[in-house]
Amino acid sequence: MNPPAKKIVFSGVRPTGPAHLGNYVGAFRSWLRLQDEYRCFYSIVSWHALSSEYASSRTIGGNIFEMAVDLLSLGIDPGKCVLFVQSDVPEHAELHLILSMFIPLPWLERVPTFKEMQQELADKELNTYGFLGYPVLQTADIILYKAEVVPVGEDQEAHLELAREVTRRFNRFVAPVFPEPQTLLTEVPRLAGTDGRKMSKSFGNAVYLKDPPEVIREKIATMVTDTRRKRRSDPGDPDDCPAFTLHRAFVAREVREELARGCRTAGIGCLECKRAAIDALLGFLGPYQEKRRAFEKDPGSVREILAEGGRRAREEAKRTMAEVRDRLGL
Ligand code: TRP
Ligand code: SF4
Repeated sequence: MNPPAKKIVFSGVRPTGPAHLGNYVGAFRSWLRLQDEYRCFYSIVSWHALSSEYASSRTIGGNIFEMAVDLLSLGIDPGKCVLFVQSDVPEHAELHLILSMFIPLPWLERVPTFKEMQQELADKELNTYGFLGYPVLQTADIILYKAEVVPVGEDQEAHLELAREVTRRFNRFVAPVFPEPQTLLTEVPRLAGTDGRKMSKSFGNAVYLKDPPEVIREKIATMVTDTRRKRRSDPGDPDDCPAFTLHRAFVAREVREELARGCRTAGIGCLECKRAAIDALLGFLGPYQEKRRAFEKDPGSVREILAEGGRRAREEAKRTMAEVRDRLGL
């Protein structure tokens, strides 16, 4: 008897700048774990980047390369998964177009991220046809590979909910072609940025994986803490401390619990507490930064990995689209 087929995983990241710790904790950490067990497709979603960066589209190419280097240096392994660039596989666009015919406009207008992102990126005109369809393209990404599992941060939950609705609707009107994709939420709560808001490139509060050690030290040393600790003798609460989200993500549990006790009893100072996060982080980032330097010296190898990933992804995508066209009768 054949072993049961491996479940298919899909996830994507927008190439809009270098990867930060929030990207790692929210997504890449589970990407790394899943590549050992599942059939994983990981995509650098260039057209999603275009939906917000269309006025400076020439920056996207460099960001694709940077993101690929980030992922490969973290240990995303093209021998275990398919790593590719979305726009190398035109079938994503074809399926996006087809799905768009099935989706009532109000479904898209009520996706909360549509308005939120417009506010967050107020300097950009995002009241566009393409940006409204962002979650449709995301749905196409996922179901093109018949993926069942989608590892993402909680901020993507609304998009996955829509993806399931769209999938059901297509399956109902046409034929049961696609499985409904399930969200695999990351277990660690979201990371705060240096100013205490959620870590995000557009807030200018991010710690980047490729930041030099002295920059990382400085960013964390000045990061916002529980405001109750005005003086060293004031006790604090790690649950209300933005900096402590780093501890939850990177510091071993016993050490972390000890520090939390020290905070609540004013037994330790914030700098001492932060030093544990800095040490853990620099320990984790050391090997990554070493690999990054090697990839930067050999850009050809990165391009070749992406080209090969694109070929493998496209094989799957072509198979699905043949079935879709057949079922549509087109
Ligand atoms: N919207 C996702 C984000 O901003 C990126 C993305 C695009 C994605 N297509 C996807 C994530 C498909 C998961 C599956 O992070
Ligand atoms: Fe935050 Fe640590 Fe300071 Fe407590 S001691 S407020 S957890 S940085």
